[in-house]
Amino acid sequence: MITDIQITIDSQFTLVQCTKGDYIPSADAVVRIPGRGLAGTEEGIVMRLMGKVSIITGGAQGIGQATAIKFAKEGAKVAVCDVNLTAVDETVRLIREAGGEAAGFRVDVTDKVSITQMVEGVMAKWGRVDTLVNNAGIVQDAQLKKMSEDQFDRVIDVNLKGVYNCTRAVVDIMLAQNSGCILNASSIVGLYGNFGQTNYAATKFGVIGMVKTWARELGSKGIRANAICPGYIHTPILASMPAKVLKMIEDKVPMGRLGKPEEIANTYAWLASDEASYVNGAVIEVSGGVTI
Ligand SMILES: NC(=O)c1ccc[n+]([C@@H]2O[C@H](COP(=O)([O-])OP(=O)(O)OC[C@H]3O[C@@H](n4cnc5c(N)ncnc54)[C@H](O)[C@@H]3O)[C@@H](O)[C@H]2O)c1
Repeated sequence: MITDIQITIDSQFTLVQCTKGDYIPSADAVVRIPGRGLAGTEEGIVMRLMGKVSIITGGAQGIGQATAIKFAKEGAKVAVCDVNLTAVDETVRLIREAGGEAAGFRVDVTDKVSITQMVEGVMAKWGRVDTLVNNAGIVQDAQLKKMSEDQFDRVIDVNLKGVYNCTRAVVDIMLAQNSGCILNASSIVGLYGNFGQTNYAATKFGVIGMVKTWARELGSKGIRANAICPGYIHTPILASMPAKVLKMIEDKVPMGRLGKPEEIANTYAWLASDEASYVNGAVIEVSGGVTI
């Protein structure tokens, strides 16, 4: 929430008055406020997510944190959900300090009780759920011949069942609203597989299967479901990769570099906005072209 300027929006959601800066009156409620970026930045911002209540899992770090900050920057009310409560608190603090609206929840996506408590908390606070970003994910890599059953099960539980658990927990709310947006973290590994990632690849292919199913089941009810397939993005999840391997990956990317978490967050924000109102069941690769 931006607190030091006054904005007046009429019943048609057209901006009619703004005490600072220019504005572009808009029938579809896109409000541009030059010079009023989050965190004191000077860029103009497009508030495409104004008032949209958004739940982001794994929201305390990496791509999830960048997404939480981006959504808040564009006017969303953000529930930052993660197992790491210290990092949740820090992310909420960053958003609030910059004038955004956020609440933190300790959520383990494998634990239905913690998910239910979070959804109840969000409903009590904001009364609806517009967007769910199923972003929480882990890796536990090993070649097939060395992979333990625990490694396999744990990655399935978090990356695949966790996505199901969270979506199941909000779908009735979205159905009652006749609107909603379910965004999901797949991966280029969910398109092509990867050495040492039997478990991870299974989950990321699985996420795409669920997304296409939900797009069919829920599309006529005003709910869109889409997946993003990030390439190699510079976050702590890559920490286990040796520098030499990361360098080899960089060299393989036509753009010659790893991606930034913000570059995935920007795609999630577009998908969550009304600009993507006809995008449903899509699987969008954001990878700098590494797979071509
Ligand atoms: N970084 C990449 O290169 C890349 C590429 C493709 C796909 N992805 C996917 O994007 C998503 C985010 O990746 P990232 O790189 O930001 O990872 P990250 O490790 O930086 O962050 C993941 C977050 O998820 C949280 N988390 C882990 N288990 C959880 C659980 N059970 N419940 C709730 N939260 C949990 C962690 O605490 C962490 O904050 C993941 O699903 C990942 O598979 C990442």
